[in-house]
Amino acid sequence: MPEPDIAALALAGLSARPKTLPPVLFYDDAGCALFYRITGLPEYYLTRTELALLPVIAREIAPLLARPAALVEYGASDEAKAAFLLDCPGAPFAAYVPIDIAAAALEAMANRARARWPDLAVMPIAADFLTPPRLPPALDGMARLGFFPGSTIGNLDPPAARRFLAGARAALGPEARLLVGVDLAKDPSLLLPAYDDAAGVTAAVNRNLLVRLNREAGADFDPAGFDHRALWNAAEGRIEMHLVSRRAQRVRVAGTAIDFAAGETIHTENSYKHSLPGFAALARAGGWTPARVWTDPGQLFSVHLLAG
Ligand code: TRP
Repeated sequence: MPEPDIAALALAGLSARPKTLPPVLFYDDAGCALFYRITGLPEYYLTRTELALLPVIAREIAPLLARPAALVEYGASDEAKAAFLLDCPGAPFAAYVPIDIAAAALEAMANRARARWPDLAVMPIAADFLTPPRLPPALDGMARLGFFPGSTIGNLDPPAARRFLAGARAALGPEARLLVGVDLAKDPSLLLPAYDDAAGVTAAVNRNLLVRLNREAGADFDPAGFDHRALWNAAEGRIEMHLVSRRAQRVRVAGTAIDFAAGETIHTENSYKHSLPGFAALARAGGWTPARVWTDPGQLFSVHLLAG
């Protein structure tokens, strides 16, 4: 895989008004480890709510798929969620294709998966799931289930989410199904702590962007010179994460000076929250037919099964 040009990505975002940094930069080794801690935080209801839904979902989906089938997971940093599908009694899976940008974490998880499911063909693809390469020819003739858990789709704005869905449909083929985890719109008093936790792990993930740019893009950020801020943008229906400059300061990135006013922000992430009908409409716009949806009793989180 070609190395993304980290400095070029960073400079493009930091030269924009307002300043941004692309979220793909979050996922270096340190960022992945911190993000894994987020998924276990008390405020971060998303992961545990989705995990609690998966055993039921797996039992209902397994009989729908022809065998042999392939499970294609987008943004697969560990196998915990796929395991519910792969381990379900009667599961039809002969192949597992995890796709993730974090190559080292992906390889480690592929090795764990090979040891855990010796009869499964595990074929990791180290790539940005937004521009995934073609699926391996070994999948020809297999039924396909795409899997996009974690409400990662919420990190895409609606046009990008629609493009992702359409691209996945083209890649997976006309008979495929797609299972998507989608966080639901709810009171900001529940949403905000999930992106601004008391232990400061989300703040550390956000500031790790600057640490990474110092190491990999010839930058000289003072990470302590930026505050983590999460806010609810009601008009757009999204949580936003920002890094807020605590003072006027000049930073160099790969030889280019970038000036910050006091209070100026770098917009680092969006996390869109959908309604059930809103996501169904997005899925249709991406060329899919909503087939089923599961939610927890508190309607915090949803998992949607889409058919081709
Ligand atoms: N898909 C996750 C979400 O929006 C991603 C996420 C949560 C995240 N917290 C983060 C990504 C902090 C980077 C940094 O809920």
